[in-house]
Amino acid sequence: MLSFNFLKDAGVSGKKVFLRADLDVPLANGGIEDDTRLLSAIPTLEYLLSQGAKIILAGHLGRPEGINKSLSLEPIAKWFAKQLTINNLQLTKIGEFEGWEIGPNIFLLENLRFFAGEEKNDPGFAKQLANLADIYVNEAFADSHRNHASITGVPKYLPGFAGLHLQQEIEVLSKVLEKPKRPLVVVIGGAKLETKLPLVEKMHHLADYVLVGGKIARDVKTLLKIQHEKIEGRKSALLIADLNLDETDVTPKSIENFLQIIDLARTVVWNGPLGKISDNKMEMAKSEDGSRKLAEGLVKSSAYTIVGGGDTVGFLEKACLLDKFACLPKNRCFLSTGGGAMLSFLSGEKLPGLEALKARPTSPATLA
Ligand code: 3PG
Repeated sequence: MLSFNFLKDAGVSGKKVFLRADLDVPLANGGIEDDTRLLSAIPTLEYLLSQGAKIILAGHLGRPEGINKSLSLEPIAKWFAKQLTINNLQLTKIGEFEGWEIGPNIFLLENLRFFAGEEKNDPGFAKQLANLADIYVNEAFADSHRNHASITGVPKYLPGFAGLHLQQEIEVLSKVLEKPKRPLVVVIGGAKLETKLPLVEKMHHLADYVLVGGKIARDVKTLLKIQHEKIEGRKSALLIADLNLDETDVTPKSIENFLQIIDLARTVVWNGPLGKISDNKMEMAKSEDGSRKLAEGLVKSSAYTIVGGGDTVGFLEKACLLDKFACLPKNRCFLSTGGGAMLSFLSGEKLPGLEALKARPTSPATLA
């Protein structure tokens, strides 16, 4: 853990800083449904401003294929302007990129995934981004499992540091990975099958119980069981939820079973809603019952609870339960910005974005 370069060790005074943040927030009815990820970048932003740094803020939103105006970062630019009480948000050019001047020392680039070079981790694209700054700061834990240009490409050309929230993620999750209080229960739901399926398998090496709901329980139940049976010397138990008739949520009996296991736990990790979350912010859908009951059970439980992922935290906000988690003492709860990234970290994987922060550059940026 000590091998990471942390922001507080960087000399940022008067420097241009490329700040890669977690801007991939859930949207509903044209607005931001949950701003937890954006809030997590504020301490780093304020620290950089207090040091007289100039910030080039960047990130992605959703999974656009090319330019898609419905996934523009404009609502994010407005959110930061409001948060930092700045009134003169302006469209501007930042190097060769479009973006916004949020304030005299803060600029935001348009959605990086509008460029093919981002997900391809194209070195030319990474260099273009690196040319904008002197220092790279990663405050995007939720994206650090992606080998993309703004996550691993840019720090090849600039000295890279972990932001203040990222440092906290590393410290808290390392403790769970290295010495979890057992029994450790991992609850996995959500929809990103290709990300989650291999992670469920890896979780069997860390957890005592793996509980699965959501789309993954619906679509790959048999595969999950086979995967589990094939693990040599497995110690974990696997419980896959049954779904109700319309397959939009787990059954009440399954939730009862999940909660019985959670009662035994001393540590719980939860990522991914168990049923379909409706876009209607104003109304709790029937298919959200399972996730709500699980969340209520976790608030009551005495286990150390880690909840992570944009959709999961967004759901808690919608269900008016986020404050209950946020108010739990620090030794009872941690809200991670990462979903897939959190599970990858806890499964012992080396996250490419974090590995990129381990080098110890001694000289200023060198651009090939
Ligand atoms: C997330 O929401 O898990 C991160 O922002 C990563 O998004 P991705 O799965 O589209 O890469």
